[in-house]
Amino acid sequence: MPAPPVAVVGLGQLGGSLAAALVAGGRQVAGWDVDPAARAAAAARGVSITRELGGVVVLAVPLPAMAGALEGLTVDPDATITDLGSVKAPVLGALGATYGGRFVGGHPMCGTERSGHGATDPALFAGARWALCLEPGTELPRWLRVAEVALAVGAEVVPVTAAEHDDAVAAVSHVSHLLAAALAAAAGEAGPTALALAAGSFRDGTRVAGSDPAFVTAMVEGNAGPTAAALDRVRAQLGRPWPELVAAGHAVATRPVARETVRVPVDRAALLALGRQGGAVTRRLAAFVEGWVPARG
Ligand SMILES: NC(=O)c1ccc[n+]([C@@H]2O[C@H](COP(=O)([O-])OP(=O)(O)OC[C@H]3O[C@@H](n4cnc5c(N)ncnc54)[C@H](O)[C@@H]3O)[C@@H](O)[C@H]2O)c1
Repeated sequence: MPAPPVAVVGLGQLGGSLAAALVAGGRQVAGWDVDPAARAAAAARGVSITRELGGVVVLAVPLPAMAGALEGLTVDPDATITDLGSVKAPVLGALGATYGGRFVGGHPMCGTERSGHGATDPALFAGARWALCLEPGTELPRWLRVAEVALAVGAEVVPVTAAEHDDAVAAVSHVSHLLAAALAAAAGEAGPTALALAAGSFRDGTRVAGSDPAFVTAMVEGNAGPTAAALDRVRAQLGRPWPELVAAGHAVATRPVARETVRVPVDRAALLALGRQGGAVTRRLAAFVEGWVPARG
């Protein structure tokens, strides 16, 4: 079956990068953005600018704009709708109610502290994990269609439910943004000499504090419960004796990352089991997908 066309709504950092990566791979890509400058930049990269969307329709707009992103656009009644939003349960609530099993929530785990069409990078998705939601009502052939788009730009697909996704990213992403902000703000209070001496560890720990505050606020507030729970776990860690805390963090940060190749049937339970083992899909075969899980031992 030929790969379906892709239409991207929101041609900023994530959407512009996805469109550019697909065009570079020879795919037909349509797109729309409310910002004429973003439309012009995408058109210059070979994206066909239109309000008529079909195939796999990817919503790459800020979280607060997600529910209304298709208003005023013409969408093929058989289109598969997906999104790139950093929080999944609220988007599933809004778009799943409208599109049912045609909606497949997604979240590529990449991006930088930059935003807008000027931050477009066709290599952004190469090697990135891309969470793709499999709810009880998700139509599996549509999930596979979106997975194919993610694989086409070099990402690895992690099958999850929206709730599993939101808990997981609270721990590794949303709390990281809050901790970066806290570290930067506290260093600011420590005075100009501290900031003058800030070097590598401060730069790495605060990089994402340079992100657009509107983006970060929408993300943490959109995932408030899991993020608060993840922050509680961080607070508990900070209460441990320092040698114990340093050793525990070091063990996780330097854990072995060997992979074992696996094949799993194209089946909701089997795919979710792969995601729950910490694995990802890397290739679609006929009745199977190929992927990996962390190696035992
Ligand atoms: N930035 C990251 O690191 C990152 C990572 C993964 C996922 N995401 C998610 O991807 C999505 C996009 O983030 P981004 O960083 O690319 O943002 P961005 O600000 O770079 O781009 C968003 C684009 O959407 C356009 N837009 C806004 N409202 C619109 C509407 N109603 N219709 C059409 N276009 C509209 C804007 O003009 C802009 O070009 C967000 O939902 C975000 O949560 C971001």
